[in-house]
Amino acid sequence: MSSFDTVSFRPNAIPTDQADHLLPLRLRGLGLRFDQGTPILKDLDLDLSPHGCTVIMGPNGAGKSLLLKLLHGLIAPTSGRIDWGGLSMDDARMRQALVFQKPVLLRRSVAANIDFVLRARGRPRDLCDALLQHVGLAHKARLPARRLSGGEAQRLALARALACAPDVLLLDEATASLDPASVQSIEAIVRNACSQGTRVISVTHDIGQAQRMADDVVFLHGGRVVEHGPAREFFPRPQSQVARDYLSGKLVF
Ligand SMILES: Nc1ncnc2c1ncn2[C@@H]1O[C@H](COP(=O)(O)OP(=O)(O)OP(=O)(O)O)[C@@H](O)[C@H]1O
Ligand SMILES: [Mg+2]
Repeated sequence: MSSFDTVSFRPNAIPTDQADHLLPLRLRGLGLRFDQGTPILKDLDLDLSPHGCTVIMGPNGAGKSLLLKLLHGLIAPTSGRIDWGGLSMDDARMRQALVFQKPVLLRRSVAANIDFVLRARGRPRDLCDALLQHVGLAHKARLPARRLSGGEAQRLALARALACAPDVLLLDEATASLDPASVQSIEAIVRNACSQGTRVISVTHDIGQAQRMADDVVFLHGGRVVEHGPAREFFPRPQSQVARDYLSGKLVF
């Protein structure tokens, strides 16, 4: 795999210390319910700066994946507002990439999966080789993507996300069910993107990973933001009993 430290796929990236005008996220009174049922997300207020890595944690069913889908504009809130630096949701989505736990790949070769995105985004097609190199898949470029292992497929999904040169990378349990080496390599790729100025918002149940990656943590429970604060404060001193229980493996749902 290539050196993660030297590769940038964001040629126009603005240095992080000048990026304060970029896509700050503001949620106000965000709510979601389906078919007049019980509200799933309830009155979320949240402010995220335009850089760094936020990890969203919380038990199964807390509403984490739905929150990411709302942030990416795949579903619309029932109430409240999502404000990505004043952009329309369509414009905001064009500056984001979302990686799911189970990568959804085109039934084409590994390289064609990247090439498709580069073409769609009007980016230089010759970035394909560098991206595949970056995620350690250069030797699989011609293989049908469906033949990749789980970890390889996830690395391809990340490479495809980076091909969009996203300002915001949304990750939904992107390393769940991967082996430790694959987890490490994906964390390194994400850290590299973050250091290049890509804003990362990642959902994970992997507490070790959250501690390695997070600048700040949002803890969701029962569709509400129970805690939001710096990772260095959240992990040693969670303020709520539910977060304490979750971190110690006692909170089931
Ligand atoms: N279309 C839908 N209609 C009704 N309820 C839904 C719908 N989609 C999701 N839900 C419910 O919303 C809740 C939150 O779902 P979500 O997928 O966001 O949870 P999560 O926090 O990502 O959980 P996990 O850690 O298991 O991935 C769940 O109880 C789920 O059953
Ligand atoms: Mg989920």
